[in-house]
Amino acid sequence: MSAVDLSAVRPEPVKPLIWEGDHLRLLDQRVLPGELRYLRCESAGDIADAIHGMAVRGAPAIGIAAAYGMVLALRADPDGVQRAFDLLAASRPTAVNLRWALERMRGLWLERPDLAALEAEAVKIHDEDLAQNLKMGAFGAALIGSNASVITHCNTGALATGGHGTALGVIRSAYALNRIARVYNTETRPWLQGARLTAWELQQEGIPAKLIADGAAAHLMSREQIDWVIVGADRIAENGDTANKIGTYALAVAARRHGVKFMVVAPSGTFDLRCRSGADIPIEERGAAELTEFRGVPIAPQGYDAFNPVFDVTPAELIDAIVCESGVIARPSREAVRAVLG
Ligand code: MRU
Repeated sequence: MSAVDLSAVRPEPVKPLIWEGDHLRLLDQRVLPGELRYLRCESAGDIADAIHGMAVRGAPAIGIAAAYGMVLALRADPDGVQRAFDLLAASRPTAVNLRWALERMRGLWLERPDLAALEAEAVKIHDEDLAQNLKMGAFGAALIGSNASVITHCNTGALATGGHGTALGVIRSAYALNRIARVYNTETRPWLQGARLTAWELQQEGIPAKLIADGAAAHLMSREQIDWVIVGADRIAENGDTANKIGTYALAVAARRHGVKFMVVAPSGTFDLRCRSGADIPIEERGAAELTEFRGVPIAPQGYDAFNPVFDVTPAELIDAIVCESGVIARPSREAVRAVLG
């Protein structure tokens, strides 16, 4: 693994989560890139609403937000630990980082009901995420050869995490090592995390990048040399099957067809060893209006129904490497996952 010169990785210009001691400020990702607006969350209920409403999104970021939510809830009601846990856990079902952070906060509180210690734990979860992303950036960048063309999906950058990013963090670190020639990022229908958020982050970094329609990825792989598809994850099962933003599975199928390598980048908090395989991962379905309307304007016939799963599962056999902070899981399998996670 080559060391990444972190001074070459620019500091994040905008912070998506700011803990102010008595409330959490969340950059409202629903209105980016047009508007920079922060929401003030003063209670666990405010944070659960922000997570459910997608003001904050991305698996690590919602875990961090939920940890601060536990601090606000237990300050208001020291006997309400399970109520706060249930409220926050119900806000989104697929990203296991949310549950992982809540379990860590509840465990600490049950062992030692101390509000200062609880706040310090939430700050630690936040700081650890950035440190893990920098480690994954170095591990992932080491897998990428020179002059690489990569495709990424959804938004996995500073906005989705405690900073730097997971998949986008690997791209940032590899770019700092002069290994990335160009990035193609998908628009990520229907919520447009790619067009609105990833494009914004890549532009701020000055990384050469182009937006593609989700449906253009297989065509691009058939016409141009693409070296890697690099994505994040919302939950990884014991056997390496990986849930991520809808469309990830199609990218993995196309990548295998065209000899393009496929990398998943996620911290250990994204692994759920209670899921034997991807079939055990709950897949969030959101409302039909996300597909039938665009910003309130109908784009499908009035009354038309829609099926809107917002994640899918990529089977482990289509993944070349899962990068986490403790190392690289090459050709993921139960044994390979256990060997790296310990
Ligand atoms: O619905 P979202 O925007 O929360 O989905 C985000 C993703 O699918 C990301 O790829 C995943 O959370 C990894 S983010 C570092």
